[in-house]
Amino acid sequence: MLNMARMFSQVTVITLAVAALLAVSGCQRRVCYYTNWSQYRNGDASFFPEDIDTSLCSHVIFAFAKLDGNHLTNFEWNDLSTKWSKGMYERFNDRKNNQTHLKTLLAVGGWKMGSGPFTAMVATEASRQDFVNHSIAFLTKHGFDGLDLDWEYPANRGSPAGDKQKFTALVKQLRTTYDAYAASSGKTLLLTAAVAAGKGKIDTAYEVAKIAADLDFINLMTYDLHGGWETKTAPHSPLYSHPSDEVDLNMDWAAGYWMELGTPKDKLVIGVPLYGRTFTLTSSDTSLGAPASGAGTAGPYTNEGGILAYYEVCTQLSSADVSEVIPEMKVPYMVKGDQWIGYEDATSLREKVKYIKSNGYGGVMAWALPLDDFDGKFCGQGRYPLWSAVNDECKKHA
Ligand SMILES: *[C@@H]1O[C@H](CO)[C@@H](O)[C@H](O)[C@H]1NC(C)=O
Ligand SMILES: *[C@@H]1O[C@H](CO)[C@@H](O)[C@H](O)[C@H]1NC(C)=O
Ligand SMILES: *[C@@H]1O[C@H](CO)[C@@H](O)[C@H](O)[C@H]1NC(C)=O
Repeated sequence: MLNMARMFSQVTVITLAVAALLAVSGCQRRVCYYTNWSQYRNGDASFFPEDIDTSLCSHVIFAFAKLDGNHLTNFEWNDLSTKWSKGMYERFNDRKNNQTHLKTLLAVGGWKMGSGPFTAMVATEASRQDFVNHSIAFLTKHGFDGLDLDWEYPANRGSPAGDKQKFTALVKQLRTTYDAYAASSGKTLLLTAAVAAGKGKIDTAYEVAKIAADLDFINLMTYDLHGGWETKTAPHSPLYSHPSDEVDLNMDWAAGYWMELGTPKDKLVIGVPLYGRTFTLTSSDTSLGAPASGAGTAGPYTNEGGILAYYEVCTQLSSADVSEVIPEMKVPYMVKGDQWIGYEDATSLREKVKYIKSNGYGGVMAWALPLDDFDGKFCGQGRYPLWSAVNDECKKHA
């Protein structure tokens, strides 16, 4: 009896320990994107590698590199160091400064690069292997710890249907070759991908279970789900659906679908935006689903119609005509004049982190650090008010 009781209590202790681990497992990765073009923003919005707060990230990803034929190459003239100047890659990787907790990856592709160069590169087994082999030399030469594939998207945007299988083959060849490289050199290279959250794209672009088996983790782009290409207002990163919205355009649905198709839970890193998406209203209706003519006015720093960095939103909040939370979707929006802005704040991001943790997903990813009030100069909420809130919520015990 005594032995039974002892065994029972040991099992209980182990169960409790496992439960405690699981409860905090949702933030084992805090993945931070850095963007090459934010260095050119004006004044206080200009962002350099030195502005990254490395204590807030487990992985930082440099966006973007591009393809030159089958080879990975730099986008910007100043990405590479010269005899006279330190390039962005070196400044970026210097931020590791021997911090073993921090890994850096180079992302290849992005929305603007589109599918064309990828389609050419994945065409044959030999062209893919050329990319794979060269990527090892390029990444290690410049001090990166891995590669993030940002093809938006295989078998979409001009890419033929068969690119779905060729993307799988690329991922497989990368995995095999990186594993062989690790075995012979002792140096592990991480392999990840940023992937779509919309059903049509997921179904056409990815053999989910196969790529998930070979990737170290998957960055799910659960944002841009609505935007100025539509004619009625909606927030672009809802946690849950709203009765008036499609059921499959929210984080809960997208994460569930990636799981259902065979992604191991702990490999799924859920993306959150540190920016808003905006609409121009066409009537006095300011509600969710109000008629809109399209994208809202460009921000003074980000300079692109339809999006605003958090630091361009926070400065308008005190003079907003409407500032509310959509309870079903758990995200805020604000209206000023004819501008409707769906965005994230510390509260909505904390909700998302709680969701990620309670579901045991593999972490949280931000697009992108330069869009937070990184220096605390705009919002009066301290440095990195959004991403710090995410980190703070990550640290809390369930
Ligand atoms: C940065 O990378 C993007 C690729 O998305 C590229 O279009 C752009 O020219 C690069 N540089 C700047 C300054 O935007
Ligand atoms: C990292 O550590 C090595 C060995 O201790 C040292 O030589 C190097 O300067 C360090 N790097 C940085 C960026 O501090
Ligand atoms: C890739 O590297 C392997 C091992 O060094 C080599 O055998 C193979 O021929 C290379 N393939 C290409 C296409 O460069």
